[in-house]
Amino acid sequence: MQWHEKYGPWALVTGASSGLGAEFVKQLAARGLNVVLVARREQRMAALADDVRRSRGVATRVVPVDLTGRDACRRVGDQTSDLEIGLLVNNAGFGLFGAYADLDPDRMVNMTVLNCVVPVLLTNQYLQPMLNRGRGGLIFLASTAAYQATPYLGVYGASKAFNLLMGESLWEEYRTRGIDSLALSPGFTKTEFTSVAQMKDASGLREATPGAVVALALRKLGKRPSVIHGLANKVLNFTGRLIPRRAAIAVTSAMLKGRTMS
Ligand SMILES: NC(=O)c1ccc[n+]([C@@H]2O[C@H](COP(=O)([O-])OP(=O)(O)OC[C@H]3O[C@@H](n4cnc5c(N)ncnc54)[C@H](OP(=O)(O)O)[C@@H]3O)[C@@H](O)[C@H]2O)c1
Repeated sequence: MQWHEKYGPWALVTGASSGLGAEFVKQLAARGLNVVLVARREQRMAALADDVRRSRGVATRVVPVDLTGRDACRRVGDQTSDLEIGLLVNNAGFGLFGAYADLDPDRMVNMTVLNCVVPVLLTNQYLQPMLNRGRGGLIFLASTAAYQATPYLGVYGASKAFNLLMGESLWEEYRTRGIDSLALSPGFTKTEFTSVAQMKDASGLREATPGAVVALALRKLGKRPSVIHGLANKVLNFTGRLIPRRAAIAVTSAMLKGRTMS
């Protein structure tokens, strides 16, 4: 089945103004899907929308919104109520590096709302119409941080575990009803993530390209419940499951602690 038949005619991508979200927009447009772009930075999205409209001949709609705002997800639903959204990419999110008590409590709550509550609210908006049509797809942005505790990135890691488990659960619940759900777990990827998260030391990190991560997600959608990007990340994840939990916590702590200090 062609992409537009299975997941079209429209995809909706949150966090479409940069990084992985912008890459999803490009690769979905290349597969012939019209795209709704959702994030706060309108000019960036308008430029990208223009680009894919001209280069791929697809339609686009830009919805500039702070997704953590009051009624924001309902307003996104209102502004797309005339469109058949066949693929929802729950991508918008950010991280916060630091020991729990050193982080701004309001920002931590805001992050939890964006990373966890918003995907639930948007799935509420778009899943039922997909079920009525008997086809569609959902992508949830998890992370390699989702598979074990992440000291100094603790609330973020927990929020990504939320997406991992939600994406995998919906895969099982709806795969026989024509809906594909996928939890995507990138490792560190070259986006604005580390600067937004105020990561102080990114030295020695092997960052993947958004292009490779998104291409993997689109290859695996409909084939499996979740996917980790990168061989090294897969090996780390596998060995993490073989050692005692407290040892896995110590390993991630050692990897992350120094990166929070100036
Ligand atoms: N990069 C990595 O290493 C990595 C690894 C694993 C998982 N991830 C996950 O990948 C996803 C995308 O992150 P990225 O790496 O591409 O980072 P990014 O370049 O910082 O992109 C984050 C996107 O989220 C949007 N966003 C942030 N706050 C928002 C809000 N309140 N309302 C609406 N949109 C908002 C941003 O747009 P505006 O600022 O314009 O609103 C931006 O488009 C996240 O869920 C992240 O957890 C990233």
